[in-house]
Amino acid sequence: MSELFGKQNRLSRIFNKSGKSIMLALDHGMALGPMQGIERPGEVLKKLTPYTDSIMLNKGILKNCYVPDGHVGIVLRISGAATIVGEDLTRESITTTVTEALRLSADAVATSIYVGTPSEHSTIRELSLLCDECETYGLPVLAVTAIGKDRERKTDPRYLALAVRVAAEMGADIIKTYYCDENFEKVVEASAGVPIVIAGGPKMDSVLDVLKIAENAVKAGALGVDMGRNVWQHEKPVEMLLALKEVVNEGTNAEEAYAKHFGRK
Ligand code: R5P
Repeated sequence: MSELFGKQNRLSRIFNKSGKSIMLALDHGMALGPMQGIERPGEVLKKLTPYTDSIMLNKGILKNCYVPDGHVGIVLRISGAATIVGEDLTRESITTTVTEALRLSADAVATSIYVGTPSEHSTIRELSLLCDECETYGLPVLAVTAIGKDRERKTDPRYLALAVRVAAEMGADIIKTYYCDENFEKVVEASAGVPIVIAGGPKMDSVLDVLKIAENAVKAGALGVDMGRNVWQHEKPVEMLLALKEVVNEGTNAEEAYAKHFGRK
């Protein structure tokens, strides 16, 4: 048996047979509290996990609100300890041990890096050391990349690519980034082959726009979405997941998926 077996087996619970993942992100409460849409996380999980490949959440919600059924891959966020009302939302550090993550049967652990902020050094270093520790157990690490506060930088492919490459260099196994309209393929290329998934960001007005960024990201080489607000803040979250699934897994174009699940515009 290959020594990579453990990691490969865990990754196969996150990425489906087509090699893609519809990951439902539900980790926001750790910093933002009970946001609209995740006031009752247990109900959200019960309703939406049948339509996802994997879920990304913190240990408290996993332990208290998720009813295990072995169906979804579990990406456990193990960084945090900063809130929206605190001094600095980027001042995160590791909050859960790898042993606890393994005890909770995580298929991967997630930590943030905050490039271009005062927390840059500490978060990048923690990612790197976490990757070393997790390698011992064959536990994949997902790096959540974030770029400071500057709005322009957040959508600048050069900064996104920088953060992605840093995460890859530190040993991440999956990298979450934001989508950008211009040169997103350069952001994907920067990962040097490490799978990329995209976050959705704040809820968009148009479902079609959500589906289009998923379509464009996958065309550029991303392997899926790790979305939260655009799913559970939408009035039809199941339809949103089904449409995303078609776009991501089957390469259906956004308009077609929209028409099928939301009707003609
Ligand atoms: C970001 O750091 C959070 O971890 C979220 O998981 C991420 O932003 C994805 O959620 P959304 O699609 O709501 O942006």
